[in-house]
Amino acid sequence: MRKVVCCFLLLGLVTFSCKKNPKGIDGELYSLSKENSGHIWYKNSEAFLEKSNGSGHNFPFLRTRFNPVAATQLDASGKIIDNAVFPEGSVVVKELYNSSNELERYATLYKKSDSEFADANGWVWGYIEKNGKVVESAELKGASCIGCHSQGGNIDYMLMKAYFP
Ligand code: HEC
Repeated sequence: MRKVVCCFLLLGLVTFSCKKNPKGIDGELYSLSKENSGHIWYKNSEAFLEKSNGSGHNFPFLRTRFNPVAATQLDASGKIIDNAVFPEGSVVVKELYNSSNELERYATLYKKSDSEFADANGWVWGYIEKNGKVVESAELKGASCIGCHSQGGNIDYMLMKAYFP
Protein backbone atom coordinates (compact mmCIF):
# COMPACT_ATOMS: atom_id res chain seq x y z
CA MET A 1 0.00 0.00 0.00
CA ARG A 2 2.75 2.37 1.00
CA LYS A 3 4.45 1.70 -2.32
CA VAL A 4 1.31 2.67 -4.22
CA VAL A 5 1.01 5.94 -2.31
CA CYS A 6 4.66 6.64 -2.99
CA CYS A 7 4.12 6.01 -6.67
CA PHE A 8 1.25 8.47 -6.79
CA LEU A 9 3.23 11.09 -4.92
CA LEU A 10 6.11 10.66 -7.33
CA LEU A 11 3.80 10.87 -10.31
CA GLY A 12 2.23 14.02 -8.90
CA LEU A 13 5.63 15.56 -8.35
CA VAL A 14 6.74 14.75 -11.88
CA THR A 15 3.54 16.13 -13.38
CA PHE A 16 3.84 19.27 -11.27
CA SER A 17 7.47 19.93 -12.10
CA CYS A 18 6.78 19.47 -15.80
CA LYS A 19 4.03 22.05 -15.82
CA LYS A 20 6.25 24.77 -17.18
CA ASN A 21 7.58 22.67 -20.03
CA PRO A 22 4.65 22.82 -22.39
CA LYS A 23 3.95 19.68 -24.39
CA GLY A 24 2.88 19.00 -27.94
CA ILE A 25 2.13 21.94 -30.17
CA ASP A 26 2.58 24.45 -27.30
CA GLY A 27 6.01 22.97 -26.59
CA GLU A 28 6.89 23.37 -30.25
CA LEU A 29 5.72 27.00 -30.26
CA TYR A 30 7.65 27.67 -27.03
CA SER A 31 10.93 26.37 -28.50
CA LEU A 32 10.36 28.31 -31.71
CA SER A 33 9.66 31.48 -29.73
CA LYS A 34 12.86 31.28 -27.69
CA GLU A 35 14.97 30.65 -30.78
CA ASN A 36 16.17 33.92 -32.30
CA SER A 37 19.20 33.18 -34.44
CA GLY A 38 19.10 34.95 -37.78
CA HIS A 39 15.90 36.77 -36.84
CA ILE A 40 15.23 40.25 -38.20
CA TRP A 41 13.52 42.87 -36.07
CA TYR A 42 10.56 44.72 -37.53
CA LYS A 43 11.87 47.89 -39.19
CA ASN A 44 15.37 46.52 -38.50
CA SER A 45 15.15 48.00 -35.02
CA GLU A 46 15.48 46.30 -31.65
CA ALA A 47 14.04 49.36 -29.90
CA PHE A 48 11.21 48.78 -27.42
CA LEU A 49 7.99 50.01 -28.99
CA GLU A 50 5.10 51.29 -26.96
CA LYS A 51 2.12 49.08 -27.69
CA SER A 52 -0.39 50.63 -30.04
CA ASN A 53 -3.87 51.63 -28.90
CA GLY A 54 -5.30 48.78 -31.00
CA SER A 55 -3.21 46.17 -29.24
CA GLY A 56 -4.88 43.21 -27.58
CA HIS A 57 -1.66 42.53 -25.73
CA ASN A 58 -1.70 43.79 -22.23
CA PHE A 59 1.94 44.81 -21.81
CA PRO A 60 3.34 48.31 -22.29
CA PHE A 61 6.25 47.45 -24.60
CA LEU A 62 6.87 45.12 -27.49
CA ARG A 63 9.38 44.04 -30.09
CA THR A 64 8.60 41.82 -33.08
CA ARG A 65 11.07 39.59 -34.88
CA PHE A 66 10.89 37.41 -37.99
CA ASN A 67 12.80 34.17 -38.57
CA PRO A 68 14.80 33.96 -41.83
CA VAL A 69 11.87 32.35 -43.70
CA ALA A 70 9.41 35.02 -42.56
CA ALA A 71 11.96 37.77 -43.18
CA THR A 72 11.64 37.09 -46.92
CA GLN A 73 8.38 39.05 -46.60
CA LEU A 74 10.09 42.19 -45.27
CA ASP A 75 11.38 45.00 -47.45
CA ALA A 76 14.83 46.55 -47.07
CA SER A 77 13.59 48.79 -44.25
CA GLY A 78 12.26 45.76 -42.36
CA LYS A 79 8.59 46.51 -42.99
CA ILE A 80 6.13 43.83 -44.10
CA ILE A 81 5.62 44.06 -47.87
CA ASP A 82 2.10 44.76 -49.09
CA ASN A 83 0.19 41.62 -50.12
CA ALA A 84 2.81 39.47 -48.41
CA VAL A 85 1.94 35.81 -48.04
CA PHE A 86 4.26 34.22 -45.52
CA PRO A 87 5.80 30.91 -46.66
CA GLU A 88 5.64 27.61 -44.78
CA GLY A 89 8.02 27.63 -41.83
CA SER A 90 7.62 31.34 -41.14
CA VAL A 91 7.87 32.25 -37.45
CA VAL A 92 6.90 35.72 -36.22
CA VAL A 93 7.47 36.40 -32.54
CA LYS A 94 6.15 39.39 -30.68
CA GLU A 95 8.02 39.76 -27.41
CA LEU A 96 5.97 41.48 -24.75
CA TYR A 97 7.71 43.48 -22.04
CA ASN A 98 6.66 44.99 -18.71
CA SER A 99 7.30 48.60 -17.73
CA SER A 100 10.88 47.72 -16.66
CA ASN A 101 11.61 46.37 -20.15
CA GLU A 102 11.72 42.80 -18.83
CA LEU A 103 10.50 40.09 -21.17
CA GLU A 104 7.21 38.60 -19.96
CA ARG A 105 5.50 36.74 -22.78
CA TYR A 106 5.69 35.51 -26.37
CA ALA A 107 2.87 35.97 -28.88
CA THR A 108 3.86 33.79 -31.80
CA LEU A 109 2.61 32.99 -35.26
CA TYR A 110 3.92 29.89 -37.01
CA LYS A 111 2.99 29.02 -40.61
CA LYS A 112 2.45 25.28 -40.66
CA SER A 113 -0.54 24.38 -42.86
CA ASP A 114 -0.28 20.66 -42.23
CA SER A 115 -0.62 21.08 -38.46
CA GLU A 116 -3.95 19.91 -37.10
CA PHE A 117 -3.96 23.18 -35.15
CA ALA A 118 -3.47 25.50 -38.14
CA ASP A 119 -6.21 28.00 -39.00
CA ALA A 120 -7.63 28.38 -42.52
CA ASN A 121 -4.60 30.47 -43.55
CA GLY A 122 -2.13 27.90 -42.25
CA TRP A 123 -1.10 29.81 -39.10
CA VAL A 124 -0.67 28.27 -35.67
CA TRP A 125 -1.14 30.78 -32.81
CA GLY A 126 0.91 30.61 -29.62
CA TYR A 127 0.65 32.65 -26.41
CA ILE A 128 3.16 31.57 -23.79
CA GLU A 129 4.87 33.20 -20.79
CA LYS A 130 8.64 33.53 -20.85
CA ASN A 131 8.82 30.76 -18.20
CA GLY A 132 6.81 28.36 -20.37
CA LYS A 133 3.37 28.78 -18.81
CA VAL A 134 0.81 28.50 -21.58
CA VAL A 135 -1.57 31.48 -21.60
CA GLU A 136 -3.69 30.29 -24.50
CA SER A 137 -3.05 26.89 -26.02
CA ALA A 138 -2.30 26.73 -29.73
CA GLU A 139 -4.83 23.89 -29.78
CA LEU A 140 -7.53 26.59 -29.65
CA LYS A 141 -6.37 27.77 -33.11
CA GLY A 142 -6.09 31.43 -32.16
CA ALA A 143 -9.70 31.60 -30.94
CA SER A 144 -9.19 34.88 -29.07
CA CYS A 145 -6.71 36.30 -31.60
CA ILE A 146 -8.09 35.88 -35.12
CA GLY A 147 -11.02 38.28 -34.83
CA CYS A 148 -8.80 41.22 -34.02
CA HIS A 149 -6.03 40.16 -36.41
CA SER A 150 -8.57 40.04 -39.30
CA GLN A 151 -9.22 43.78 -39.12
CA GLY A 152 -8.70 46.04 -42.13
CA GLY A 153 -5.05 46.66 -42.89
CA ASN A 154 -3.86 43.21 -41.82
CA ILE A 155 -1.38 41.51 -44.16
CA ASP A 156 -1.70 37.71 -43.88
CA TYR A 157 -2.98 38.48 -40.33
CA MET A 158 0.00 40.71 -39.48
CA LEU A 159 -0.83 44.03 -37.84
CA MET A 160 2.58 45.58 -37.22
CA LYS A 161 2.54 47.57 -40.44
CA ALA A 162 -1.00 48.84 -39.85
CA TYR A 163 -0.03 50.16 -36.41
CA PHE A 164 3.66 50.97 -36.95
CA PRO A 165 3.77 52.13 -40.59
C1 HEC B 1 -7.73 43.39 -29.76
C2 HEC B 1 -6.82 43.11 -30.83
C3 HEC B 1 -5.81 41.97 -30.74
C4 HEC B 1 -5.95 40.70 -30.21
C5 HEC B 1 -7.16 40.09 -29.53
C6 HEC B 1 -4.68 40.02 -30.46
N1 HEC B 1 -3.81 40.85 -31.09
FE1 HEC B 1 -1.91 40.37 -31.72
N2 HEC B 1 -1.63 42.30 -32.31
C7 HEC B 1 -2.56 43.32 -32.26
C8 HEC B 1 -1.96 44.56 -32.71
C9 HEC B 1 -2.66 45.92 -32.81
C10 HEC B 1 -0.64 44.27 -33.05
C11 HEC B 1 0.43 45.27 -33.49
C12 HEC B 1 1.40 45.55 -32.37
C13 HEC B 1 0.77 46.04 -31.10
O1 HEC B 1 0.42 47.23 -30.98
O2 HEC B 1 0.63 45.22 -30.18
C14 HEC B 1 -0.47 42.83 -32.81
C15 HEC B 1 0.69 42.13 -33.10
C16 HEC B 1 0.83 40.75 -33.00
C17 HEC B 1 1.97 40.01 -33.47
C18 HEC B 1 3.16 40.58 -34.24
C19 HEC B 1 2.99 40.31 -35.73
C20 HEC B 1 2.04 41.24 -36.45
O3 HEC B 1 2.48 41.98 -37.35
O4 HEC B 1 0.84 41.22 -36.15
C21 HEC B 1 1.75 38.71 -33.13
C22 HEC B 1 2.68 37.53 -33.43
C23 HEC B 1 0.48 38.65 -32.45
N3 HEC B 1 -0.06 39.90 -32.38
C24 HEC B 1 -0.08 37.49 -31.94
C25 HEC B 1 -1.32 37.43 -31.30
C26 HEC B 1 -1.84 36.25 -30.63
C27 HEC B 1 -1.14 34.91 -30.57
C28 HEC B 1 -3.06 36.59 -30.12
C29 HEC B 1 -4.03 35.75 -29.32
C30 HEC B 1 -3.55 35.01 -28.18
C31 HEC B 1 -3.30 37.99 -30.44
N4 HEC B 1 -2.22 38.47 -31.15
C32 HEC B 1 -4.42 38.71 -30.08
C33 HEC B 1 -3.87 43.19 -31.86
C34 HEC B 1 -4.43 42.06 -31.28
